[in-house]
Amino acid sequence: MSARLFIFGAGGHGKVAADCATEQERWSGIEFYDDRWPALDACAHWLVVGAGDDLLRQSREPRETFVAIGDAGTRLAWIAQLAEAGFPLATIVHPRAWVSAGAAIGRGSLVVAGAIVNIGARLEEGVIVNTGATVDHDCAIGRGAHICPGAHLAGNVEVGQRAFVGIGAAVRQGVRIGAGAVIGAGAVVVHDIAEGVTAVGAPARPTDKIEDGR
Ligand SMILES: CC(C)(COP(=O)(O)OP(=O)(O)OC[C@H]1O[C@@H](n2cnc3c(N)ncnc32)[C@H](O)[C@@H]1OP(=O)(O)O)[C@@H](O)C(=O)NCCC(=O)NCCS
Repeated sequence: MSARLFIFGAGGHGKVAADCATEQERWSGIEFYDDRWPALDACAHWLVVGAGDDLLRQSREPRETFVAIGDAGTRLAWIAQLAEAGFPLATIVHPRAWVSAGAAIGRGSLVVAGAIVNIGARLEEGVIVNTGATVDHDCAIGRGAHICPGAHLAGNVEVGQRAFVGIGAAVRQGVRIGAGAVIGAGAVVVHDIAEGVTAVGAPARPTDKIEDGR
């Protein structure tokens, strides 16, 4: 086992990331940082030991770090800042997820238990493939995208950066989902979805009566 893992972001997503990292048995322990510290001093049974600035001060002796922030823009901004400061960005894959040796997982990404990433799939940095989601062959998942629990992407699907594919959604092969798009829970996506659009239903259709409710 190597040194301790630093995790920035001590909310629900941080807790899941820490749990996956523990199961991965790659790090000797976990230290959380969060800007709500010192009011927030624990995340499940792990300690929150400082705020983001305190984490950046660790750059004298940087350890592998994971950014566990749900908001994609904030997550990517922290990944960039930490990389610039010299922190190696951890990639966390739960041992009971299955990732093909022929798939590529970008730095700072998380693959949760039960997920499958098939051959030829490419995940850029800061991607989340959440519990039980499947990313089939040759999919391309852009920076900061989130494939929510139980969502299924058929082969050759493209998901743009910061896009959000909601829980239980199904996406037909070859479909392109634009950057920043939001696919509602349970949607069935059979046509391309443009950048920044929210789409819901089966078949999924763009809707303008919805605020971004992620
Ligand atoms: C699509 C979504 C982003 C919209 O959120 P929102 O802006 O807060 O939308 P609201 O709840 O105000 O709903 C607005 C309307 O859209 C409908 N709607 C919302 N989500 C829907 C969905 N997934 N499918 C179909 N219709 C949906 C609502 O019924 C409502 O319609 P009405 O006014 O006729 O009753 C959200 O509902 C959603 O599906 N989020 C995914 C959550 C998720 O996957 N979480 C996992 C995190 S790990």
